[in-house]
Amino acid sequence: MSTQDDLKRAVAQAAVRHVVPGRILGVGTGSTVDRFIDALAAAGVPLAGAVSSSERSAARLQAAGIAMLDLNEVDDIPVYIDGADEIDPAFCMIKGGGAALTREKVVAAVARSFVCIADASKRVEVLGRFPLPVEVIPMARAYVTRELARLGGQPRWRQGVVTDNGNHILDVYGLAITDPAGTEARINQIVGVVTNGLFAARRADVLLLGTAQGVQESFRVPR
Ligand code: A5P
Repeated sequence: MSTQDDLKRAVAQAAVRHVVPGRILGVGTGSTVDRFIDALAAAGVPLAGAVSSSERSAARLQAAGIAMLDLNEVDDIPVYIDGADEIDPAFCMIKGGGAALTREKVVAAVARSFVCIADASKRVEVLGRFPLPVEVIPMARAYVTRELARLGGQPRWRQGVVTDNGNHILDVYGLAITDPAGTEARINQIVGVVTNGLFAARRADVLLLGTAQGVQESFRVPR
């Protein structure tokens, strides 16, 4: 029987085929991405360098001998590979369980293709069982908490966590997100919010889903 770890390794390995040799690669954050970086290093795919969405992934990429690039020096990223906390049938996602959501969203915005690597437990019909991470400027935390509660969620401060950008994370429980793009836009309008973990305006293009029957590859149907 496959464990969740086996499924993460399988999708991480499958993602190596989506890397464009000789080009710049965008790399996300999380335990699935850690396994992808290991698989990438083992495969020895030549790269022009990588743009990372976190200090955590940057350290792992550097340890694998992959050159790190500053996003401000890069104008084209053919492929971005990252995990998700939840992904729905339209390839909208909740991300940010690892607190890297802002840099993930920025690198994903630059990338031409977003390849999501996830084990089958991440696939849901409606987003929101996983608490939605929201990155906030520290002095706005209490205000944003009140505003998120007015939207119907139960925000909780992820105490002890400071993002790579020096900010705090609120995890919003109890949301059934039937309109991901609308909810993403609405939360972004709250003053003091840096980013929220809904990836609907920029969703995944390709999903590699690790299942007990093997890795399922599917492509987003254009809207
Ligand atoms: C990091 O902030 C997240 O967006 C991750 O991509 C997400 O939490 C998936 O992580 P795992 O691969 O560890 O499940």
